[in-house]
Amino acid sequence: MQGKYKALWLNKNKYLEVIDQTKLPFEYETKVLKTTDEIVKAIKDMTVRGAGVIGSVAAFGIYTACLEVDNYDELKLRAKQIRESRPTAVNLMWAVDLMMDKLKDSTDLVNDALKFAIKLNDDEACESQKIAEYGCDIIEDILKKKNKSKINILTHCNAGWLAVIDEGTALAPIYEAKKRGIDVHVWVDETRPRNQGASLTAWELTQSGINHTIIADNTGGHLMQDGQVDMVITGADRVSAGGDVANKIGTYLKALAAKDNNVPFYVAIPASTFDFDIIDGVKEIPIELRSEDEVKYIKGVDKNGKIKEVLITPKNSPAINYGFDVTPARLITGLITNKGICRADFDEIRLKFT
Ligand code: MRU
Repeated sequence: MQGKYKALWLNKNKYLEVIDQTKLPFEYETKVLKTTDEIVKAIKDMTVRGAGVIGSVAAFGIYTACLEVDNYDELKLRAKQIRESRPTAVNLMWAVDLMMDKLKDSTDLVNDALKFAIKLNDDEACESQKIAEYGCDIIEDILKKKNKSKINILTHCNAGWLAVIDEGTALAPIYEAKKRGIDVHVWVDETRPRNQGASLTAWELTQSGINHTIIADNTGGHLMQDGQVDMVITGADRVSAGGDVANKIGTYLKALAAKDNNVPFYVAIPASTFDFDIIDGVKEIPIELRSEDEVKYIKGVDKNGKIKEVLITPKNSPAINYGFDVTPARLITGLITNKGICRADFDEIRLKFT
């Protein structure tokens, strides 16, 4: 293995082990996933989450499934279960399809699957490093143009190393900025309803000693009007052939506010996040609908340090919980990719990535 795979790794018994992200930032626990059912459950209940990491787990999930089957036809059934565990992040389908394609003529499913899963993850780790470097070059450009020494970056949800191995996507340029000695401050959208920003991004940035401030989701527009945001960087769960970006619910509103305030809005992605079968992202990208309980209940720790969930709405009021929205390409300044900065534009994407 080349990368460190911080959110997941193969343990000494060659089983997949992952950080249980449902417990962060309160408790650091890991889980060993030994069966296809455990892999599927971990993706569904968001023990593991974030588009890239879901793809990485799916690749090792196919290896895990190979430990349970005798032949490729049996493997297909388990692959389908993994592929259908969440609908929006295309990295999941990409990883399963790639693994299955590579394994179709295999005479040694277990060993080949292990080899291909490691290769897929090593490649993703290299892409994350490239995203870090290209994204940080933009940070330097913005500082130079504004003649400033400190950059304020707003991010939504979590697209750090808990979401994409090894450095993440949206947070990768920020980690690189720290390495290059740039004074960086991050506005962290709390990201209701599951609070991936307040819990996971804030936790990651704390681990790395990066200056940050958590803000309620509605604060970004005001900060942009007030000149307190130099750029926005988010990740993505799926990007259409025309450059429309599906990302955590609320991203679209930030892109609108950024456009209105001339704040550059960048989206950082590995190549596995493109879906070339989809042209119009707003109409065609499937949006996950999750349980209303994620809106109605909130998780935290009580005075004794015990994780608790409490109801914050009238018990019988209905709620609706769309997991993602789609930001049209016209609102995006550029895609930060492993192949450099790419305009969110059909021809440029095709030229660089197909
Ligand atoms: O529902 P999640 O937590 O899996 O969603 C993750 C996101 O939407 C992230 O914002 C991200 O940008 C995609 S992961 C790189």
